Amino acid sequence: MIAWDLREWLDQLEKENELLRIKEELNLEPDIGAIGKAVCDLQGPGILAENIAGYKIKLCIGLSASFKRTAMALGLAKEANFGEIKGKWRNAFDKYPVKARIVKDAPCKENIVYGEEVNLFQYPVPRININDASFYLTKTMCITKDPDSDWVNVGMYRAMILDRNKTGFKAGYFQHAATHYFKARRRGQPLEMAISYGGAPHIPIVSGSPIPQGWNEFDFAGALRGEPEELVMAETVNLPVPATAELVLEGVLKEPAVFEGPFGEFPGSYSNTFMTPVFEVKAITFRNDLIMDHLYIGRGRTETDYMTDLPTISSMEQELKARYPEITEIAFLTPKWMNCVVQGKWTHQAQPVKVMTACLAARGAYKMVTIVDEDVDPWNADEVFWAISTRCQADKDVYILPGFPVGLDPSQSHEELTCAFGINATKPLGPYPRHRVAQYVTPRKETSYWKDRIKKSMQGGKA
Ligand SMILES: Cc1cc2nc3c(=O)[nH]c(=O)nc-3n(C[C@H](O)[C@H](O)[C@H](O)COP(=O)(O)O)c2cc1C
Repeated sequence: MIAWDLREWLDQLEKENELLRIKEELNLEPDIGAIGKAVCDLQGPGILAENIAGYKIKLCIGLSASFKRTAMALGLAKEANFGEIKGKWRNAFDKYPVKARIVKDAPCKENIVYGEEVNLFQYPVPRININDASFYLTKTMCITKDPDSDWVNVGMYRAMILDRNKTGFKAGYFQHAATHYFKARRRGQPLEMAISYGGAPHIPIVSGSPIPQGWNEFDFAGALRGEPEELVMAETVNLPVPATAELVLEGVLKEPAVFEGPFGEFPGSYSNTFMTPVFEVKAITFRNDLIMDHLYIGRGRTETDYMTDLPTISSMEQELKARYPEITEIAFLTPKWMNCVVQGKWTHQAQPVKVMTACLAARGAYKMVTIVDEDVDPWNADEVFWAISTRCQADKDVYILPGFPVGLDPSQSHEELTCAFGINATKPLGPYPRHRVAQYVTPRKETSYWKDRIKKSMQGGKA
């Protein structure tokens, strides 16, 4: 059963030996980042740090650092295999929408601070990696509404703390929240936003995974749960937020833009500094005995991968398998999003290339796509590189596609665009060499006889 809030989730983890409580005093820096990385490397237990120097608030790190716990967060047994996890996600597409219910009283409203009282520094938010520009909220559920419709979106985007009541906001320009923000900006208006933190464990997964444009992620979360999520209206903005969230920041996204970053990111490198809108926080609501829920991100695999690889792949498989049933499996090697492998039972020679481009056009794969045959395990980098070395001629089988949107590729020369490429590492199909010898169409020898007769008739003679 999917837990309703972070506290029930921690109980579930503890019962399954998936939680380690640390009672000794820890410092936000360097301890929390160091512990987060260690948990990711080991796929070790999630951590509940009960004693953070300078704070009376507990803090979690690493709760999403294993595929097992992703299964559990989606309400499955921790032994569930990749197919079962992807299947659970696929079923939610069929059941969508399970409309969320708006309630009046909610735990997330137990404490409320407004305006001058807002102080983001009161909550323990770590600087996860050494050269991060500031403290970052990472495991965010950023809630915005389309200025033109009722579409409410929830997305996971990093928010750098700048001031007691301000954060940066780095949603890629191709993300749904950015679409909402650009519409508002064109009208010269700020965009209302709420960031919820903590709560039921499947909502961060939904927040960080591709759900089709125009869909409401809360109604998708309800489809995963099999019953409606409970939401409550925020205090100062016209947005619904999860009733059992630990903490909710309410405010507006607006200009003038601020400098944001660098921040240690999923490719294993620090991002550039970007100009982003500022998120001005007008109110904070939070639960009694608040518990913060952070994650570690950096060179993979980290929580980014364990949490959203399989849901992202499941979304992609549905989109692509409908057109190309020959696809048998999609996998992410690290760094995810930039290193995708598609395995298939190909039936004609051009299929791998069609699939490679379709895959780059889908949400989820942004840079390198390698196509392999059924006898290669797409999750095994050794096997994938064996296929590349033995089934690929670089001058014919590597396809280069400049101008793809990735903001975080350290090798790109343009800040927001990268050069995507596809590798066809499949066995040649059929009896044909890659360049066949053409057989040209030639006229029959009788044609000249008929040409003469028809010409005569055209000149008025007897044919
Ligand atoms: C841990 C984690 C952190 C993420 N951080 C960001 C981020 O800072 N900016 C961004 O554009 N996408 C980020 N993403 C990816 C988006 O959350 C993902 O693409 C999601 O589908 C976006 O939501 P949307 O489809 O509603 O736009 C992150 C994903 C995860 C799992």
